[in-house]
This record gives sequence, structure tokens and C-alpha cells, in this order.
Amino acid sequence: MAHQVQPLPFSKDLDGISKKTVEIHHDKLYAGYVAKRNEVEAAIVQADASKANQIYSAYRGLKEGETFAANGMILHEVHFSNLGGNGDPAGTKILDTITTTWGSWDAFVVALTATGMAARGWAILAYDPSDAKLHLYAADSQNQGGVWGCTPLLALDVYEHAYFIDVGSDRPTYIKNFLKNIDWQAVDKRYQAVAASS
Ligand SMILES: [Fe+2]
Repeated sequence: MAHQVQPLPFSKDLDGISKKTVEIHHDKLYAGYVAKRNEVEAAIVQADASKANQIYSAYRGLKEGETFAANGMILHEVHFSNLGGNGDPAGTKILDTITTTWGSWDAFVVALTATGMAARGWAILAYDPSDAKLHLYAADSQNQGGVWGCTPLLALDVYEHAYFIDVGSDRPTYIKNFLKNIDWQAVDKRYQAVAASS
């Protein structure tokens, strides 16, 4: 079955992230990843596998596009499912783990912000079953920087399309705005599910 565009999981206006940004980001850019994932998966089935070549080949182009589109879809779905909250992690289990892992909530915010400033594409809070710990990973592209087996719990999109309309090139302000809108209950739900099953 073809991949489907998931509806925006919140209806409220965000604080500091405009409706226009959210609409373009979700309805056009994210939906584009879903459409292209379907397109490339169908094209691979039809492609001439005998011509596959690592230097240049149509098959190589398809395989590169496949992971780019798939991760673009997946990471945007995590990104949007993180939003629509009030940014308050109080009462969540993941807050306890974050505090243990980074030493304090403030230290985590510093580390998340720094990861977002260092990355060219994504800053991702992930649960890594190889050590049963939380990590902040940086990805420069949709199909780069992922660690196999990890589950993304919180995805901060730092591509300029996520903030340029609202704050120009002021990425630190965008990251502050993103933090104000995180639905930590949703992040915690994902965390608890993955931690219980690993
Ligand atoms: Fe994006």
C-alpha cells in the first residue's frame, strides 16, 4: 500500500512558528516526501537492475532517492507530532531520563540547541537500544547521520524552510520557539513504548 500523508496532529496556532510556515512545511514539503517515496519505490520495481553501477547509474540514483525520501517522510512525521504542546516536560518519565543523562534540564536544552546549531538538517533526540540510552544526533541530510536501530523521539528540523519566513536566518530564536511548542507528553509516549520493548 502506498504511503499516506498523515494529517497535522495539532490544530492550534503555534507560538512563534506561523501558520504559513506550518502549512507550507506540512502540506507541500512533507507531502512531497510522501509522494516521492511512493514514486521512487514504484520506479525501483520497474528499473533495469542489470545496469546498476556505483559510479553512475539510474539504479544508483533511485537507491539514493529512496532513503532520502523515506527519511524525509519519517523525520517530518516525528517533527510535526512533537509540536502543539506547551513545552513543559513536567511529570514525564523522559524528563527523569533526560535529567540523569545530561545532568539537568538546562544542560539538555543547551545540548539540544547546540546540536541544532551544528546540524545542517536535523537535531534528533533518539533512543539507542545498543546502549539503552538517549542521544542527541545531528544529521546534515535526510539520509545521513542516522544511527541504525535508534528510534527518533524528538526531531528538530533546522532546514531554513522551517523558520526563514518567521525569523529570517535567526536559527537560535527558531530553536527557542520550537522548544516552547513541544508536546512532551507525545515525546514521552514514544519514549516509554520504545524503552519498554527494548
Ligand atoms: Fe522540513
